[in-house]
Amino acid sequence: MNTLNKRTLLKTAALSAVALAALSGCGKKEEAAPAAPAAPAAAPASDKLKIAFMYVSPIGDGGWTFQHELGRKAIQDKFGDKVETSFVESVPESADAERVLRDMAAQGNKLVFATSFGYQEFVQKVAADLKDVKFEHATGYKQAANVATYDTKTFEGAYLAGIVAGGMSKTRTVGVVASVPIPEVVRNINSFVLGAQSVDPSIKAKVVWVNEWFNPPKEAEAATSLINGGVDVMYQNTNSPAVLKTAEERGVRAFGKDGDMSAFAPNAHLGSAVIDWSPYYAKVVGDALAGQWQSGAHWWGVKEGAIDLQKIAADVPQDIKDKVEKARAGLKDGSFAVWTGPVKDNTGKERLAAGQVADLKFLTAINFYVAGVEGNVPGTDGK
Ligand code: GUN
Repeated sequence: MNTLNKRTLLKTAALSAVALAALSGCGKKEEAAPAAPAAPAAAPASDKLKIAFMYVSPIGDGGWTFQHELGRKAIQDKFGDKVETSFVESVPESADAERVLRDMAAQGNKLVFATSFGYQEFVQKVAADLKDVKFEHATGYKQAANVATYDTKTFEGAYLAGIVAGGMSKTRTVGVVASVPIPEVVRNINSFVLGAQSVDPSIKAKVVWVNEWFNPPKEAEAATSLINGGVDVMYQNTNSPAVLKTAEERGVRAFGKDGDMSAFAPNAHLGSAVIDWSPYYAKVVGDALAGQWQSGAHWWGVKEGAIDLQKIAADVPQDIKDKVEKARAGLKDGSFAVWTGPVKDNTGKERLAAGQVADLKFLTAINFYVAGVEGNVPGTDGK
């Protein structure tokens, strides 16, 4: 509720008290005629659910945060004056996050979306103190009575992009600019490579980590080193279009990720793995407005319309486009799962037996590279 509305309400309540007192006429009744009913009668009409979003990078990043911001706008449009939404951008995954979360609650927000993995401990801490606020944490795995987690199956988009990469790489070496070494990102790297190897099992892959979600100069440097190492098709798990722009400058190919990045590199762009957060956001806000919000873990993918590979480049051969369409259809109807064995890691160890489909526990704990990827996941010795 804004200040103006609050003032109007208080005024209405005060006026009602005076009116009731005047009408009642006797002292006893005056005492027995509290103004209380006036306030509740007026409150619901102007009470809005205040919802805040905390973003790790700028809303203009063109990728991860840009898409969350589209989701915020979509719920503002859908629910109109029932909600009041706001955001804070470029909040580091540090004690700053705790300060911003507490501030959002102090401003009256009752539903808070914290949209990056590294906010996890801060969300847990603040949520434990502020039980009347509901938190939604993107990509995390820790829930509480007032904390739900949610994510998109970005690895399905990575796999579809991988199919295109496998059909387009001439050097047979693809590359990934990786952000923060957590299972989600390792899963995406591997899924991209599995997609490429579904076209050509001999495909190799290189990875460069930048250890940040958003740092365009570093992302560009990482892309340059991949290209210098013989990579001619790149994917990334960072937030900006820097990898794609570098590909454009160097005459190789790359993908957009999270958002439609086609406009940043018309020649290099092979497709964008685009996330649509709005169906999930609409569900959560609808539930909260209906008093039916519940904690839980939510993971939506191609099937739910939360992610898809869009704007595949015109020069991608038709048989590769058909392969993408087949995989997409399988993901939609549940007849295909990206992580289906046999899957070996890059030391030759079998991780999934032939026909075995990875369960949630496996998917959320991937800390190895699949066969064909060079090097080790940071923090592991590759075993
Ligand atoms: N960009 C910023 N934070 C995240 C995250 O948690 N996951 C992914 N995929 N991208 C991000």
